[in-house]
Amino acid sequence: MLCSITSACLKGIEGYIVNVEVDIAAGMPSLTLVGLPDQEVKEAKDRVLAAIRNSGFDSPIKKITINLVPAEIKKSGTHFDLPIALGILGASGQLSDTAIANLKKYIFIGSLGLTGKVHGCAGVLPMLIALKRKGKEKAIISQDNLEEAKYAAMAYFSAQNLKQVVDLLEEKIPFEQELKDNSENLSIQEVYTEDFSEVKGQTLAKRALEIAAAGGHNVLMMGPPGTGKSMLAKRFATILPPLEKEEMLEILQIYSVCGLLNKRKGNFQRPFRDPHHTISNIALIGGGQNPRPGEVSLAHNGVLFLDEFAEFSRTSLEVLREPLETFKVTIARAKETLTFPAKFTLIAAMNPCPCGYHGHNVKVCNCTPVQISRYKAKISGPLLDRIDLTVNLLPVNFSDWEKKAQGPTSKEIREKVIAARKIQKERFKNSTTTANAFMSVAQIKEFCALPKDGAQVLELAMKKLGLSARSLDKILKTARTIADLEGSKDIKKEHLMEVFQYRPLDRKGVRDI
Ligand SMILES: Nc1ncnc2c1ncn2[C@@H]1O[C@H](COP(=O)(O)OP(=O)(O)OP(=O)(O)O)[C@@H](O)[C@H]1O
Ligand SMILES: [Mg+2]
Repeated sequence: MLCSITSACLKGIEGYIVNVEVDIAAGMPSLTLVGLPDQEVKEAKDRVLAAIRNSGFDSPIKKITINLVPAEIKKSGTHFDLPIALGILGASGQLSDTAIANLKKYIFIGSLGLTGKVHGCAGVLPMLIALKRKGKEKAIISQDNLEEAKYAAMAYFSAQNLKQVVDLLEEKIPFEQELKDNSENLSIQEVYTEDFSEVKGQTLAKRALEIAAAGGHNVLMMGPPGTGKSMLAKRFATILPPLEKEEMLEILQIYSVCGLLNKRKGNFQRPFRDPHHTISNIALIGGGQNPRPGEVSLAHNGVLFLDEFAEFSRTSLEVLREPLETFKVTIARAKETLTFPAKFTLIAAMNPCPCGYHGHNVKVCNCTPVQISRYKAKISGPLLDRIDLTVNLLPVNFSDWEKKAQGPTSKEIREKVIAARKIQKERFKNSTTTANAFMSVAQIKEFCALPKDGAQVLELAMKKLGLSARSLDKILKTARTIADLEGSKDIKKEHLMEVFQYRPLDRKGVRDI
């Protein structure tokens, strides 16, 4: 007898429908799983038969064939256990006609323990969103994945064990009809214990971070030890604009695929990822045998803070070039190509040399010119070209340090940032662009018209500093954000001039700063 059950799987962070077909025929007792299952899926064989037995059903001693359709896409995950178990029960005649008819009403996603307990699994949210788009309405999932069903606004039954699912199919217990769109409740909880006003002096760096938050621009902070680079970066989260609902759903899907969603419960701020400099390329960019999103994707719609930037391996830094340019990561395999979103704001902090005091106003740098060159050469030209704002921090002077009032608070800056983002939201209402930093070439042309006197400034800068076309685009995007912060409709010459303050590398080059 044949039984077909609806489930789902993931390709990158996109879900798609999978039909689990189970056929039971007379013959040598065996269980064959086809349809490109990976090792994780294959292990279902042993778990499922034990779960069936321990739930009080018979495990058929016949030839069982399970096919996962579409058969040409590689499947991974443990969530096929529940549909496979139900398929075996259906195909072996252990379910009534009512239950068989009800099987078609639901989709099943869940991993099974040997006792028959239904366990949660990763990636349920994107799977449910994809299924909902295809018109599927009711899901049977584990209690562990309840939150995800709510975010997908999918009616669900939270199954404790296999026996309970069979009781539901046999109509012995009712379906919990809870069609609540939890994504409406994605209230953003902004509770910060740190504040920008705690950072003394460093006016230029604070302004650069304000511009970065307003337009999503990348920032590099360079300076001697103890000048407040890490301190400023950590407080950057406190001035970011609140998340839009669509941005939040994108983030939740990525965290769901990584199995991190429950950890984010009740914490709906923009992601702030600060991986250590010893991180591997794969952990940073994503990939692996079963490709998973890396830190750049976990920072999607948020911030990737790379402290001690020059201490990261050269290859780790170079792999950042693709997401910084295209805002996504593409992982190509022989049989498939996966794409993970990676639209983040990069905040990088580094010392100017190995001893940290190159360019210090008092302390003497002990490094040789070769050491300094080698240290800075880790940050390649193409990578620097992708950074919009660079600030050279100097030690705080005593008068700044002893001052009580230390400039605007996080709340005050954030209000300005939110106002600037509102202008951008209106500007990009017909596109997927979320902030000035992510403008396409066509959008730069449309929204970043140069003032008459500004064209001369840019032309001169291009000739004298040898700016690349990308640098020019970045300058225009940043000037657009400064104009937005001022509430100015047009980019003015002074906005352009301010951008040049944050581009010391264009003037000096990284080795001389
Ligand atoms: N501008 C500042 N205002 C107030 N406190 C500061 C400032 N700069 C540094 N400090 C104090 O020094 C400590 C270290 O600062 P921070 O970690 O930000 O330095 P850093 O620039 O990142 O140094 P390193 O290059 O060694 O990483 C802070 O925790 C804070 O107590
Ligand atoms: Mg630091």
